[in-house]
Amino acid sequence: MHKLIQKAVVEHNLSRAELTEILQDDSCKTELFAAADEVRRRYVGDEVHLRGLIEFSNICRNNCCYCGLRRDNRNIKRYRMDEETVCALAEHAVLKMGLKTIVLQSGEDLFYTPEVLCRILRRIKNLDVAVTLSIGEKSLQEYQAYKQAGADRFLLRIETTDKELYLRHDPGMSWEQRRHCLHDLKTAGFELGTGCLVGLPGQTTESYADDILFFKQIGADMIGIGPFIPHPDTPLKTAAGGTLDMALRVMALTRLLLPDINIPATTAMETLAKDGQRQALQSGANVIMPNVTQVDYRRYYDLYPGKSTVGGTPDKALEKVKNLISAIGRQVGTGYGASKHFQKK
Ligand code: 5AD
Ligand code: SF4
Repeated sequence: MHKLIQKAVVEHNLSRAELTEILQDDSCKTELFAAADEVRRRYVGDEVHLRGLIEFSNICRNNCCYCGLRRDNRNIKRYRMDEETVCALAEHAVLKMGLKTIVLQSGEDLFYTPEVLCRILRRIKNLDVAVTLSIGEKSLQEYQAYKQAGADRFLLRIETTDKELYLRHDPGMSWEQRRHCLHDLKTAGFELGTGCLVGLPGQTTESYADDILFFKQIGADMIGIGPFIPHPDTPLKTAAGGTLDMALRVMALTRLLLPDINIPATTAMETLAKDGQRQALQSGANVIMPNVTQVDYRRYYDLYPGKSTVGGTPDKALEKVKNLISAIGRQVGTGYGASKHFQKK
């Protein structure tokens, strides 16, 4: 195992069988995490880039079996922020909190037309920040309009590259269409973020290996990996859910194979353990996305249990994250924090 990990550190390449072998071997994880930490330091440095996350609508037309925002969940209060509210939150995040990237995330809510979203984008770009969109599947034309309005980056997780599992857990959605969207986002010129869940019923170490190889093949600039956490108002409420340990392993291997990308220490990791993000930052991650949505909205952005309380109020959450970064001898990023992978292209 030592040899395989060393090979990945040097060559940034492993086969499906090799990835699977490492994922299945419990005894090598300390070495794996240390190797990912070293590769992270060498390729992207000690800076941790912060992104201010605004969850502007929890309305979704999709029905993903794992997600609390799914269309059929009648047990949550739905909200949509208006343009002024979104822009005011962004302004606070940039001018008061000093954040240099704003992430606009929502369910797939068709209420926001390209016209409205482009107007919001132009207003936020006036604050001199990078903007990331995470709003789901759209047409190439629409993606191009967002790019033109100033959006820099786009997050669209593939969730799982295992087609059969994807179709089972994302009823009514098309696996081909999702891949197509990722290619369209590249065509539109976005810095591209994708990623997967870890611990969905039926996922295997082989499918995680395929996920990692897919990230490499598509040339992703950012990869978000989160343990699946069962939500009580979904069909997967009795599922076992993912472990922090396996999510960290998939993340660490992703760092070894895609050394110069951005990798967030995800909120789902912090939800499973109170030092989940610290562990992630020391196993390959170099980004944190503190939530800047006010708590009165945020408690309804209920993708999975425990999510909405991570960190507390926006100002408190930011302080906590900054303390964490300095406690482990790292620094808050001073620039926009584009991925090195993207900058090289
Ligand atoms: N547990 C963990 N992550 C989840 N997501 C959705 N539902 C859950 C859950 N139950 C993730 C998906 C989506 C992202 C915004 O949240 O991967 O892409
Ligand atoms: Fe909607 Fe995203 Fe939740 Fe699926 S994961 S139901 S697309 S918000």
